[in-house]
Amino acid sequence: MILKYNNIWKAAKKELSDSAHGIDHTKRVYGLCQRLAPEDVDTDVLLLSALLHDIARKEEDEDDTGRVDHAVLGAKKAEKILEEKGYEKQTIEPVKHCIRAHRFRSNEKPETIEAKILSDADKLDAVGAVGIARMFMLAGQFGERIYREVDKETYLEENLTDNGRVMKLSEHSPNLEYELKLKDIPDRLYTERAKRIAEDRMKYMEDYFSRLNEEIAGDR
Ligand SMILES: [Fe+2]
Ligand SMILES: [Fe+2]
Repeated sequence: MILKYNNIWKAAKKELSDSAHGIDHTKRVYGLCQRLAPEDVDTDVLLLSALLHDIARKEEDEDDTGRVDHAVLGAKKAEKILEEKGYEKQTIEPVKHCIRAHRFRSNEKPETIEAKILSDADKLDAVGAVGIARMFMLAGQFGERIYREVDKETYLEENLTDNGRVMKLSEHSPNLEYELKLKDIPDRLYTERAKRIAEDRMKYMEDYFSRLNEEIAGDR
């Protein structure tokens, strides 16, 4: 499926982590972009952005200061890769915008249809059954607990950086991620197609977390 962009895919693979933001996530986002795209999008811009959108995730994960933003750094790295592979500025610049604007808490909002679709595709991969699996995968990777109860206001104040990153991942948990971030995803989608898919996926996730709460509380 990625044959047309095989050289870019190879370059992207070298940069991707093998966690919840790795190769499989990138392939799913690529597939969702194809699924969400109307006929009049710039396919090259959209699909190249999908392949390259998380190539700076490793740097963000390894940074303890909370200052590395994988969307901003990823756009810079993508520019280099695309220039090396001979792409023109007219493709590279809109790809950079898509990558900078794809992040959940990004300061730069998606302005083009391609950026909106990439943002939607990336969010859809964070919800539903896949979203749950990815959350627990990350929880294991960062030593989180599977369930935590906290005062949300205090938690947000104390454990989130100004640009919205979780400071101490060991004090985070999937249910907090769901409550504080993923529940809002439907309000942050741009395209009608994504909203329809999200409706079904959110219902599944809501059922899952209410069941988890019940089991943790000893009610089931
Ligand atoms: Fe990302
Ligand atoms: Fe992503």
